[in-house]
Amino acid sequence: MSGLFLTFEGIDGAGKSTHIEALAAAFRAAGRTVTLTREPGGTPLAEKLRTLALNDPMDALTEALVMFAARRDHLLQVIEPALARGDAVLCDRFTDATFAYQGGGRGFDLAVLSQLERWVQSVPALPAPGLRQPDLTVWFDLDPSVAAQRLAGARVPDKFESQPQEFFARVSGGYAARMQADPKRFLRVDAEQSRQQVWHDVQAGVRARGLLP
Ligand code: TMP
Repeated sequence: MSGLFLTFEGIDGAGKSTHIEALAAAFRAAGRTVTLTREPGGTPLAEKLRTLALNDPMDALTEALVMFAARRDHLLQVIEPALARGDAVLCDRFTDATFAYQGGGRGFDLAVLSQLERWVQSVPALPAPGLRQPDLTVWFDLDPSVAAQRLAGARVPDKFESQPQEFFARVSGGYAARMQADPKRFLRVDAEQSRQQVWHDVQAGVRARGLLP
């Protein structure tokens, strides 16, 4: 079996976690070994960088570099070996989040992010240009005002969760732009629907692409 790389995106409060778990169970039931992981994080070093990125104030370039540094370690230590083994890799956030949060949310230079993307995701296992990209990205698209209601009082917000609604409107715009640039890679799910309907759309979309029998 060849490896499969799926990523999951959306603004904070979009409700992706339960669906990632459910999809992992569906892949296991179909006989696949699943590597379930997240960004920033997924390795001891990247988890340390996550704590810094989510809590310490820093300028937008530093934040982007920390995200990509964590990603490089995660890609080399976890994602690439898992794909080489033939696992289904389910990753909660990846580079689209950097384009959405640091690019859209913070307004950071997208050309610099694209350069970092090319450096960080170049892996020797792939034929030239050797850029690792997800096979499918599920985008849980939710109106920022609905996300804010869902998040209200849920837990102590981190640096990103405490951003105003306008920030998340720009993050959503960042995701929309990434989808427009590479529509075949994306599955957009309307996350305002009931949890049951969202799950229906997620697994139907993954099956329709022939990724899950
Ligand atoms: P999580 O709470 O969904 O695990 O995501 C961690 C936070 O980090 C979330 O608010 C989004 C943010 N983030 C970025 O700003 N840039 C990135 O590249 C990634 C992966 C996450």
